[in-house]
Amino acid sequence: MSLIEWREEYSTGIPGVDHEHEELIALINSIYEMLDNSADKAKIVSCLGDIYGSISSHFALEEKWMEQNNYDEYAEHRKDHESLLDDIGEITDEVEATDRLNAEQLRSKLNDWFLIHFKTHDSRLHQAEQNK
Ligand SMILES: [Fe+2]
Ligand SMILES: [Fe+2]
Repeated sequence: MSLIEWREEYSTGIPGVDHEHEELIALINSIYEMLDNSADKAKIVSCLGDIYGSISSHFALEEKWMEQNNYDEYAEHRKDHESLLDDIGEITDEVEATDRLNAEQLRSKLNDWFLIHFKTHDSRLHQAEQNK
């Protein structure tokens, strides 16, 4: 049961970066696969916490590079990272309040977000990394 699948539209056009993003998606899926129908609230919350953790460590690496290299769009890029993490936080709050995970909502949030973020912010950033 995959949460999200790699899509060709996610591609930044830089093979090494796409590979990293594919790995991130695989990691998110492997965490999500630990959930089954009988998963209780605590298990779902801890799964979402792990997904949050894997995404935020990927972001932290990018942010470190941007900071060290005085990247011109650092603030905007970071803001987009924060907004996804906030959304995952909100989904987690909802589980806390309702005992249920709206998997469809999480899936569509991640899909939309990756589609836009990878194509715009990340492809620009990773292009700059390559030109260093
Ligand atoms: Fe990235
Ligand atoms: Fe990014």
